[in-house]
Amino acid sequence: MADDSPRVLVAGATGQVGGIVTRKLLAAGVPVRALGRHREKLVALADAGAEVIAVDLLDRTAVARACEGVGQVFSTVNNVMGRGASSPNRVDLAAYESLCSGATDAGVRRLVYLSGRGMSADDPVDFFRVKHAIEARIRQGRVPFVVLQAGAFMETWVGMLSDGMRKKGVAVLFGDGRMISNFIAVEDVAEFAVRILAREEIVNETIEVGGPSNISFDALVSLLETQMGMHVKRRRVPRAVLWLGGLALKPFNEVAARLMRLGYFTATRDLRLLDWRVAADRFGVSPMRIEEFVSQAGLA
Ligand SMILES: NC(=O)c1ccc[n+]([C@@H]2O[C@H](COP(=O)([O-])OP(=O)(O)OC[C@H]3O[C@@H](n4cnc5c(N)ncnc54)[C@H](OP(=O)(O)O)[C@@H]3O)[C@@H](O)[C@H]2O)c1
Repeated sequence: MADDSPRVLVAGATGQVGGIVTRKLLAAGVPVRALGRHREKLVALADAGAEVIAVDLLDRTAVARACEGVGQVFSTVNNVMGRGASSPNRVDLAAYESLCSGATDAGVRRLVYLSGRGMSADDPVDFFRVKHAIEARIRQGRVPFVVLQAGAFMETWVGMLSDGMRKKGVAVLFGDGRMISNFIAVEDVAEFAVRILAREEIVNETIEVGGPSNISFDALVSLLETQMGMHVKRRRVPRAVLWLGGLALKPFNEVAARLMRLGYFTATRDLRLLDWRVAADRFGVSPMRIEEFVSQAGLA
């Protein structure tokens, strides 16, 4: 049993949020076991002081070992860009089944899962249906949990839009581009995670985290135009094209189909988070505005 072990197993440590969480925990003196599938990607975290293990969550025996002596698990594991044998439809729920079993058997005190906002069992995006099922599995399990539902990552969306703008002079917008989303920087997501990991009294909760920026993708493109000193053509992909494209592409290109449906989701869901301050005040995090992120992103 893990008893009162302070060790945190970070599953997804080679990913963007997991890597920052690992380093923040180590800096705070918390022992970390960093898990990813590829040993070479874990070297930098070993150098930073983490105990590293190359384990595929589908390997239940290895996962059981990975959970031994662990007090808490933080997981970001996902395969959003996976296809075929690596499809999230094949891998992700099974991976969490294995992680939940391993954590239960090892007596892990709490499992903190990083998820997203606004997903449902009948979501148009396959990946979000899988994440919804993972949340349900975690809630039904015997390990006390926190489901952390984060807003849209600034890194993901600013990166994607600015890349297309720079290379092609075009900004691709989903639908009319005017639906509002809430944006948060990965650094701030990681800070929320670390602060939640430090407060073990918080159990069996779903916590939404976001930042002060509730803006449309259209407005984000305007912000990027100013920062990058350029004007671009806005290509607005109609909702029907995003929906039907997801359907038509599925047999040939699973990832492209998923991205079309992700575009449909973005075009049709109002994802503003007006009470973002609730979690920010509760955990003492000051999430940055997207203007600040864009000005620091080195886009000019
Ligand atoms: N992007 C957004 O706007 C957004 C918004 C809200 C929430 N989120 C959610 O935030 C979470 C974290 O995202 P992120 O960007 O930090 O993730 P990421 O960079 O894609 O990292 C994914 C991690 O999962 C690991 N992994 C995948 N399959 C595995 C398996 N079978 N066994 C062991 N490890 C496995 C990968 O390790 P290796 O490949 O090295 O093995 C990697 O470390 C995701 O769940 C995402 O859905 C994203």
